[in-house]
Amino acid sequence: MAGTITFTMIKPSAFAAGFTGKILSMIEEGGYKIKAMKKIRLTKEMAGHFYEMHLGKPFYEELTSFMSSGPIVAAVLEKENAVDSFRQFIGATDPAKAAEGTIRKLYGKNLGENAIHGSDSDESAEREASFFFSFTEQN
Ligand code: RTP
Ligand code: MG
Repeated sequence: MAGTITFTMIKPSAFAAGFTGKILSMIEEGGYKIKAMKKIRLTKEMAGHFYEMHLGKPFYEELTSFMSSGPIVAAVLEKENAVDSFRQFIGATDPAKAAEGTIRKLYGKNLGENAIHGSDSDESAEREASFFFSFTEQN
């Protein structure tokens, strides 16, 4: 059965552009309950750990530099079928290919600076949520 938890980050470009409030509004209006949330600036080392599944890929350096270039907002979200529904909700990785009305279409700039992250599996959601939040912070 699909899990009810996903993890998200409002990425540095969207945070710096002042889109945090609008994006959080969309998320809440989309039926996602905020279980945990914080603003934080990642170090490059932390970003490297978070995205370690992409280690060795051509975009790893750019991705970890970008994700540590300014503050982000990290959150744990709850909804039925959270992982798959949220990935649909935020849109395709490349904002140019994202469906109309999705967060990446509205607030993403390009493939790298695509406004927001969404976990890709229940296992990733669990790992990513516990990377940022303790058990008590998620309840
Ligand atoms: P995310 O993890 O950020 O939610 O994005 P995603 O699942 O849609 O995409 P993923 O394959 O996990 O890639 C992570 C982030 O790396 C950047 N990327 N750049 N230059 C490229 O070919 C490339 N491919 C991916 C994107 O910013 C993507 O969100
Ligand atoms: Mg991903």
